[in-house]
Amino acid sequence: LIHLLSIEGLPKDIVTHILDTAANFTSVSDREVKKVPLLRGKSVFNLFFENSTRTRTTFEIAAKRLSADVINLDIARSSATKGESLLDTIANLSAMAADLFVVRHSESGAPYLIAQHVAPHVHVVNAGDGRHAHPTQGLLDMYTIRQYKKDFSNLTVAIVGDVLHSRVARSDIHGLTTLGCAEVRVVGPKTLVPSDMAQMGVRVCHTLEEGIKDCDVIIMLRLQNERMSGALLPSSQEFFKTFGLTPEKLQLAKPDAIVMHPGPINRGVEIDSAVVDGRQSVILPQVTFGIAVRMAVMSIVAGNEA
Ligand code: CP
Repeated sequence: LIHLLSIEGLPKDIVTHILDTAANFTSVSDREVKKVPLLRGKSVFNLFFENSTRTRTTFEIAAKRLSADVINLDIARSSATKGESLLDTIANLSAMAADLFVVRHSESGAPYLIAQHVAPHVHVVNAGDGRHAHPTQGLLDMYTIRQYKKDFSNLTVAIVGDVLHSRVARSDIHGLTTLGCAEVRVVGPKTLVPSDMAQMGVRVCHTLEEGIKDCDVIIMLRLQNERMSGALLPSSQEFFKTFGLTPEKLQLAKPDAIVMHPGPINRGVEIDSAVVDGRQSVILPQVTFGIAVRMAVMSIVAGNEA
């Protein structure tokens, strides 16, 4: 694996290898062991052309725990604001001996474009491109499900909310189908579920009650207002009434169901505060697992791992 651009097309054994490698890094991500030297002498450039709290920070922590030098380009203060093209920015950073670019961009496909233009020894990891893919979020979601549920083959997983604009939903669907999940449901209003979903091998549900009934795992998504306009934009109150996950509605799922969310959460819009902070929520453990999973991805693409 030279780059990680999407989970789509990755064979099951590679996905499993990434999750197993992440499991081996938990002593480092939990700080029992301070650092490992797998990326010593390598330079990791974090290029976040779109805002981030969790992904950018956990990539930085992960790279530092692998002993890499980490450079966080401040895009808002960079010469991208003076008209420099994406590929010229990359060429200039490559001239500073970059080994790995972690890229988030609002345009779907931007990390692919970069991967086509870097030297063969330089690696690219997609940290979220438009509404296309967010592979490391998908992998940390698979890691989380495996931690709590062990075996994918008898699981029902519901992905709820604004599926249309969600790169996380697509990466999760590819991860779940690759790992042999028994049933994947996408749940949302007709306006926010894309028409190609049934072709991805998932069950489409247009009510929350049908969508989460007897589920083992519920993945909630926020309304991605920054990618919507006009008629698509539902009112927060109306959305919460129909698709908001409340403690009462959560009782429709299995009693030991876990509730996940990639963040950022919008309390009272897609999810009730009592669910976020409740006993079934694994939202913060997801964030912690992100460190080990990103260590695994970077060590596999750029380190000595096969
Ligand atoms: N889940 C996620 O991508 O969060 P950030 O936008 O904060 O990185």
